[in-house]
Amino acid sequence: MNKSKRRTVLAGNWKMNKTSSEAKALIEELMPAVERADCEVVICVPFTDIAIAVALCEGGNIAVGAQNCHFEESGAYTGEISASMLVEAGVTHVIIGHSERRQYFGETDSTVNLRAKKAISKGLIAIVCVGELLEERENGTTEEVLTRQVNAALADMTSDDIKNVIIAYEPVWAIGTGKTASSDQADEACGFIRGLVEKLFDKDVAEALTIQYGGSMNPSNADELLSKENVDGGLIGGASLKAADFKSLVDAASK
Ligand code: PGA
Repeated sequence: MNKSKRRTVLAGNWKMNKTSSEAKALIEELMPAVERADCEVVICVPFTDIAIAVALCEGGNIAVGAQNCHFEESGAYTGEISASMLVEAGVTHVIIGHSERRQYFGETDSTVNLRAKKAISKGLIAIVCVGELLEERENGTTEEVLTRQVNAALADMTSDDIKNVIIAYEPVWAIGTGKTASSDQADEACGFIRGLVEKLFDKDVAEALTIQYGGSMNPSNADELLSKENVDGGLIGGASLKAADFKSLVDAASK
């Protein structure tokens, strides 16, 4: 395995936070703070912040992502946003299958696959989230769950498609709880996912795939997590909402 072959990507997931004026203030702080980043930096903002984020980030080193998109081209899907709409709005990345969408909005392994394929077909980078619940970790079924989720999410994809996929390993019990997976647990799970991708495709595809860790990553644990062989960056919730914290994480990912 050679970590240096892979892109390190630090992505903020703002979730349902920041009105447009609040987004403007945060991005204006972030731009100079991360301008020397030696990793890819993405902010996945609410739909209503996309326009302001794309305008402010133009010419800088922050890419703008969304947090979901639908799998149909267009039509009667009230409340949904299509991949083409995101592309035309200037978005380059989209989070797919976050555990909060699985938990609260009926997202399933199969809709995750459909959404990811649609996003990729439009040239977006899909940040596909997988991860086990606390009870699944406790009853020893983490690998079974990850196998099911990864196999389903990547079904019918080609090795070219995978170039536009990032997998985020986010143990659900660590999201927003302040409980982080230990760096060994994160490395082990990300390594396990890489092994699954090798089985589905081949070693080159698996070695080139960016696999992030997400779940209460913060300035005090980031160095340790990001130093691990199989952890190629992070998907950051809470700590992406404060410029100083996000800067620390970008600095840690740039080492
Ligand atoms: P957290 O969220 O960093 O607040 O735990 C991570 C995520 O849900 O992507």
